[in-house]
Amino acid sequence: MSAKIISGTEVAKAIREELKVEVTELVEKHGITPGLVTILVGEDPASQSYVAAKNKTAHALGIHSEQVTLAADTTEADLLTLVDKYNKDAKIHGILVQLPLPKHINEANVLYAINPDKDVDGFHPVNVGKMVLGEQCFLPCTPHGILELLVRSGVQTSGAEVVVIGRSNIVGKPIANLMLQKRAGGNATVTLCHTRTKDMAAHCRRADILIAAVGVPKMVTADMVKEGVAIIDVGVNRIGMTEAGKAILAGDVDFESVKEKASCITPVPGGVGPMTITMLMKNTVQAAKIAAKLI
Ligand SMILES: NC(=O)c1ccc[n+]([C@@H]2O[C@H](COP(=O)([O-])OP(=O)(O)OC[C@H]3O[C@@H](n4cnc5c(N)ncnc54)[C@H](OP(=O)(O)O)[C@@H]3O)[C@@H](O)[C@H]2O)c1
Repeated sequence: MSAKIISGTEVAKAIREELKVEVTELVEKHGITPGLVTILVGEDPASQSYVAAKNKTAHALGIHSEQVTLAADTTEADLLTLVDKYNKDAKIHGILVQLPLPKHINEANVLYAINPDKDVDGFHPVNVGKMVLGEQCFLPCTPHGILELLVRSGVQTSGAEVVVIGRSNIVGKPIANLMLQKRAGGNATVTLCHTRTKDMAAHCRRADILIAAVGVPKMVTADMVKEGVAIIDVGVNRIGMTEAGKAILAGDVDFESVKEKASCITPVPGGVGPMTITMLMKNTVQAAKIAAKLI
């Protein structure tokens, strides 16, 4: 059996079409243009390309988008002043500070300074707390994108054995938490694995849905999964360069071998990646609606 490919590119495209309609309605009926600012400190090429992609997508959807790039030696105090400026700017509904920040800046200080109502990355403790409680909040973009992929691809999560590999604050912990909740894309029985897990392969082989967010290329191999498993591969690992100087990417799952056993699988690239940016846009539109008391 060869798995059905879950195309994040296609699902993201459908959600972006829905968002375009929402943005047009906000502008035409309520005179509100959702606004997003992205703040980048330094010149890390990967971060530059992520921020550029976010701004390009925002423009394409009719979202007002501002991009601020600061020198790598910007002080934490200056960055906090800028965040505060955008907290007070009524045109801006979402603030995204691109991570990682340079080492001399305390990331938590900066993330916690963002007004939770503009925290479209969903990293502020107020939003994290509300997420855990199952309350309305901004969900972190990558886990939110995974949920949408599962739901829109018709993967049954209720009662499913879900194994998540990786316990980071931005992917592993939140997706494990969301899949436990009593909601669409939830009601699963979840196991969270990490570097101290004993016999990880045994856990993986029990999974009806396996989510790999590790950062180790092709770590999950065919012998570690059962027939019919649904695979979400979050990993984005640069494993080489083409002659044209383009990065060659691999996921955390050995796609070629695992796709022969899985019922469905996300590719890398074109799986979770496009969903992450799309959910940032969804959160920005939601933030604009909340600011206008429309929801
Ligand atoms: N597509 C997207 O939009 C998107 C978004 C975010 C991240 N990513 C990608 O997803 C991957 C994970 O990102 P992240 O930020 O969550 O990474 P991270 O913060 O580095 O966390 C990695 C997690 O994997 C665990 N781990 C590492 N090696 C392991 C091993 N050999 N066995 C078991 N567990 C292991 C670590 O365990 P310990 O906690 O025990 O150290 C940790 O919990 C990366 O490739 C990243 O580029 C993609």
